[in-house]
Amino acid sequence: MATLDLNNVTTFIQLRPLAIGGALVMGLLYVIYLRALPKPLPGIPYDVESSRRLLGDLPHFFALEKSGRRIMEFWADVARRQRSPITQYFAGPFTKPVVIISDFRETKDLLMRRAKLLDHGSLNTGLWFGAIPHHFVGMPSSDPRYPKAKSLSNDLMTPSFLHNVSLPASYQKTLNFVNLWQLKARIANEQPFTALEDFNFLTGDIICAAALGILDEESDTVKHYNRLKTNNLSTGHPTKSNQVYPFPEYKATGILEATHTIADSITGARTASMPKLYWFFTNLRPSVSKAQKERTRILQTYIDRARDTVAKSGLSTSYRAAVDYIVSREIAAAKKESRLPALSSPEIHDSLFGYVLGGQSTTHSVLSFMIRRMAVRQDVQTKLRKELYTLYSSAASEKRNPTIHEFLAMHAPYLDAVIEETMRLNSTAPVLIREAMEDLDFLGRTIPKGTNIFCTLWGPSYDEPAIEVDEEVRSKSSQAHKEETPVDWTHSGFPPADFHPERWLRKDGKGNTVFDIKNGPTLGFGAGPRECWGKRLAYHELKLITTLLLWNFDFLPLPADLVDTDVVDFFVAKPKSCFVRLRSRVPEVQKK
Ligand code: HEM
Ligand SMILES: *[C@@H]1O[C@H](CO)[C@@H](O)[C@H](O)[C@H]1NC(C)=O
Ligand SMILES: *[C@@H]1O[C@H](CO)[C@@H](O)[C@H](O)[C@H]1NC(C)=O
Ligand SMILES: *[C@@H]1O[C@H](CO)[C@@H](O)[C@H](O)[C@H]1NC(C)=O
Repeated sequence: MATLDLNNVTTFIQLRPLAIGGALVMGLLYVIYLRALPKPLPGIPYDVESSRRLLGDLPHFFALEKSGRRIMEFWADVARRQRSPITQYFAGPFTKPVVIISDFRETKDLLMRRAKLLDHGSLNTGLWFGAIPHHFVGMPSSDPRYPKAKSLSNDLMTPSFLHNVSLPASYQKTLNFVNLWQLKARIANEQPFTALEDFNFLTGDIICAAALGILDEESDTVKHYNRLKTNNLSTGHPTKSNQVYPFPEYKATGILEATHTIADSITGARTASMPKLYWFFTNLRPSVSKAQKERTRILQTYIDRARDTVAKSGLSTSYRAAVDYIVSREIAAAKKESRLPALSSPEIHDSLFGYVLGGQSTTHSVLSFMIRRMAVRQDVQTKLRKELYTLYSSAASEKRNPTIHEFLAMHAPYLDAVIEETMRLNSTAPVLIREAMEDLDFLGRTIPKGTNIFCTLWGPSYDEPAIEVDEEVRSKSSQAHKEETPVDWTHSGFPPADFHPERWLRKDGKGNTVFDIKNGPTLGFGAGPRECWGKRLAYHELKLITTLLLWNFDFLPLPADLVDTDVVDFFVAKPKSCFVRLRSRVPEVQKK
């Protein structure tokens, strides 16, 4: 007995810590579980089921993917399901709720007029800092490095710099592209072919011309053209207008190739719940680190070239590209401060690379969405071409391209409208991201300090009716600007979801037709102090390209099986496919 007792006691003594330990572990796990569960913000609608599981709303993302819809549809979907212009969602264990805003008027008001209450947001900077750590896009406005990083890019988007430098450089590259397509049009003889890769070369060329002053022999378009010429493909064979012409593929090289690899690494950052960890491992990947080394090597050759030009012809030479300006400013600053110019600094590298990275895929996205529409909407194409022929009447009668000077002096309202309408219905970015820097009154609720805010760019108010909001709960500044822009397109006379460039036009006091961005909701470039830095350049480039392409080619209707409406999300949204069936409008002009 005694032994047994003793045994019992020892067993008990031995087991007790285990039992206590077990209970403690269970308790701890439970506490961790509770901590990991979503913590909904009071007063803001959300999916109740999501709030009860560790993964929060993530199953909604998986479901979208499984059903073949875009994951990027998620945010507008939440607003639709909850029928509320402000909602929240839960991005997985241990994460704070993210607020979703789906109302154009309050979004614009918040981003523009209440911008002091916001910053860029950790989910925003998390996208970028691993790829271009010294560019301002990856910094909150409160970052001490932000003003200096931003000032490196000063003046590059002023009208005079764009007119004197960036656009003339891009004009020449667009003519090279017209040349390539004239050759392709002759070979394909009205058979369709894919435009997506060609548009990569075009947008790569124009952005690299504006940023780096690339020469024709460094251009992928020109290399592609030369290769195609030597391929000696037969021309003028009988047309099989519903079969894709099998042009040999030509892959991007140099800076464009590196840009695509780095852009893809940013795509991954979008769904990473721990950006710092994500970037640590991503930058170790051989393909990514090779692309980073390659872009540094290539950019340095352009920086050195700019330095040599400046050395040869003095500081106040006429610039050919952004790099000349950045380099000569650094040389001037160094001279003033009696130091050596820092021409290999990561700041200069990232400010140049940010230009290429921020400008190429975005312009490609809008351009390919627009050209895809042209095949389907022959009426729009005809109307737009008619506007161009009327405006550039001497170019038309002289059977030549509009010059860059004619282009820069021209206002083409229908062209503006076609571009804006493309961006409204096929937004390049899915959401705008900010963070509340203090507790924020918003539509009668409180968004706590430190909350990330996602503003949707389609769905309610953009391409479907707005969700109703009492005027009194809108912010004071929003109420004060009530008349500025309608809440949605319901009363515009054009169905909100349909492609009607005319919705952007109105008559001015003199009875002239003008383009008016305030006719209704769209926010494709964002708004406020952190709106798209390259917006002016982007508009000009898109107008320039569209003008020259429509001037030189008819975009013929496509066979039904090549008409596609799918969107895929890379770094930015892209059409899944974009075929063209071309007919040259002018005889091919041989390039010298
Ligand atoms: C059609 C083409 C383009 C579209 C649709 C587009 C769209 C956007 C959007 C939505 C943002 C975020 C704005 C916000 O959060 O409020 C942005 C930011 C930015 N974009 Fe663009 N963009 C385009 C072209 C360009 C070009 C050509 C450049 C450069 C040459 C550029 C450089 C930038 C930069 C540097 C930022 C970050 C601004 C900041 O952090 O303060 N973008 N863009
Ligand atoms: C652009 O050209 C105009 C006229 O030639 C000149 O006055 C202006 O200084 C130039 N601006 C830049 C940034 O080169
Ligand atoms: C190109 O092709 C044509 C016939 O398709 C042929 O007559 C000509 O010799 C070829 N030229 C070269 C350089 O291969
Ligand atoms: C973009 O455009 C196509 C039509 O070409 C459309 O079917 C698609 O749903 C659009 N929407 C978005 C949000 O990109």
